Amino acid sequence: MTALTLSTAGAATLRADALVVGVAKGVKGPVLAPGSEAVDKAFDGKLAAVLATLGATGAEGELTKLPAASGLKAPVVVAVGLGPVPDKEDAYDAEALRRAAGTAARALSGSKKAGFALPAGSVEDAAAVAEGALLGSYAFTAYQGGENKLAPKDAKDSGPKQPLAEVALLGGKPRDKAYKAAVERALALVEEINRARDLINTPPNDLYPESFAAVATAAGKEHGVKVQVLDEKALVKGGFGGILGVGQGSANGPRLVKLAYTHPKAEKTLAFVGKGITYDSGGISLKPAGHNETMKCDMSGAAAVFAAVVTAARLGLKVNVTGWLALAENMPSGNATRPGDVLRMYSGKTVEVLNTDAEGRLVLGDALTRASEEKPDAIVDVATLTGAMVLALGNRTFGIMANDDAFRTSIHEIAEEVGEASWPMPLPADLRKGMDSPTADIANMGERMGGGLVAGLFLKEFVGEGIAWAHLDIAGPAFHEGAPYGYTPKGGTGSAVRTLVRLAERTADGDLG
Ligand code: BES
Ligand code: MN
Ligand code: ZN
Repeated sequence: MTALTLSTAGAATLRADALVVGVAKGVKGPVLAPGSEAVDKAFDGKLAAVLATLGATGAEGELTKLPAASGLKAPVVVAVGLGPVPDKEDAYDAEALRRAAGTAARALSGSKKAGFALPAGSVEDAAAVAEGALLGSYAFTAYQGGENKLAPKDAKDSGPKQPLAEVALLGGKPRDKAYKAAVERALALVEEINRARDLINTPPNDLYPESFAAVATAAGKEHGVKVQVLDEKALVKGGFGGILGVGQGSANGPRLVKLAYTHPKAEKTLAFVGKGITYDSGGISLKPAGHNETMKCDMSGAAAVFAAVVTAARLGLKVNVTGWLALAENMPSGNATRPGDVLRMYSGKTVEVLNTDAEGRLVLGDALTRASEEKPDAIVDVATLTGAMVLALGNRTFGIMANDDAFRTSIHEIAEEVGEASWPMPLPADLRKGMDSPTADIANMGERMGGGLVAGLFLKEFVGEGIAWAHLDIAGPAFHEGAPYGYTPKGGTGSAVRTLVRLAERTADGDLG
C-alpha cells in the first residue's frame, strides 16, 4: 500500500521525484489552484503562462509534465487539470480534487515519492486529495512478471510497474487533530477498497467461495470483526435453498459468511448484504461468448460489503455493522439447477427457476431473510445484479431501489457526498405479476422490460416486515473495462464501499432517523 503523510516541509524544500500542482480552466486560459504558490514562485510567478504555452488548458483529466525550476528540490512538476474554475475561489469540488489527485498518482506510477501541492486549505480538501492519490496508486500485478524460462540468463526483469510508493501532502496542518484523523481515515478506507479491488480482479480459479471465506476469516481476525462461515453442510441444515441451488452445479461449494463488527456503545445496527458469485457462467442458461469474460466481477457486491465492515471496524465507528456475503459459483454441470426446477428458499417461499442466469436474486434472497432475522435498523444490499441496470444507467452509475423513499433519498445523497454516481429507481408494483409462477410462489424471472426493477421487486419479498431496505445494483460501475481515468483503474473499482462506509459513519453520528 502506498504511504501517505502530511508533509512538514514546504513545496520548495521537499525532496521528492515530482511536485503535483492543480490547474483549473479559466475563461482566459489555465489558472493555478491554491496550494501551488511556492511552486509558482520558483517559476517567477510564470507557471500559468508556461503551462499555457505547453498547451495546458486546465481541463479535467489533463496532465502536463515539465522540468522543475531551480529553487525546487524536486526535479519534475506535474500539473493536473481540475476542470472549470469554481464560482467561489478555492471552493473546489471534492470529487474534482479526488479525480485530479488520482490522475496525477497514476501518471507517477513507478516513482518513489511525490509531493501533492493541490488545495489542502480545509480538512475536506486534504481528505479528498488523500483519497484520490491513494485510490489512483493502485495496480493489480499479482499475476504478472514472474519467472520467464525463455529469457536470457542475464536479462533484468523489472516486472510490472509498481504504483507510486509515497505521497507527501503539502499545505495541510500536520499537527492538527482533524487533519491527522482525515489522513488515518483515508488510509484505512483506501486500503480496504484496494483489498476489494484485489478480490474482484483475482481470477476465479483462485477466488471461489471457500477461498473468499478464508480471506474474510483472516481479515476479521486482524481487525476485530467476528466471522462465521456456513459451509455446504450447514447451509443444507439451515435450509438455504437459494444459495445451495445456485452453487450445486459447481465443484466449488457455496458459503454464507457473516461478519460482525460491534461497538459497546452502539445505538444502531446496520446489515450489509453482498452478492458474491465468484464466477457467473449463467449455469444451464449458459451465457454466450462475449458475456462471460468479465464475470469474475460478479462478487463485487460481497467484496464491497466485506471492505465496508472491515473499514467500520478499523475506524472504530459507534455503530454495529453486520455483513453477509452470499458466495457461490454459478456453473453448468450434471448437478446444476435446471430451468424449471423449484427451490425452497431460506424464508420458506418456493421459487421456480426459469433462468439459471438470474442467480444473484436467489443467493441474495436467502441472505436478506437471514439478515432480517436479526432485526437490524436497516439493510443495504449491493449486487452486480442485472444487465438491464447497465442499459438504463450506463457503466458509471449504480441504481438505488428501496422499500422506503426517505431511505432511498438518504443513500442517494450519501453517494453524492462521497463522489459515487448513483440514481434512484422505482419498484413499480405492476411488474410483480410478471413473476407469477403456475408451479411455485414466485418465478426468478419476469418481464424483460425494466429487468433491473423486476430483480429489485424479487429481492423485496425476502426482506423482513418493517425493516428499511435499499438495494444497490452496481452491475455498471463495479468493473471498469475502458482506459483508467481519475482514480478509477481498469478492472475492479471498489464501487459502493465509500457509500456504505459513509452510511455507517452517519448512522454512528445519529444523523439518520
Ligand atoms: N451477473 C449478471 C448481471 C451482470 C451483467 C453483471 C453485466 C455485470 C455486468 C446477472 O447474474 C445476470 O446474468 N442477470 C441477467 C438476468 C436475466 C436472466 C433475468 C441479465 O441481466 O441478463
Ligand atoms: Mn447471471
Ligand atoms: Zn450474476
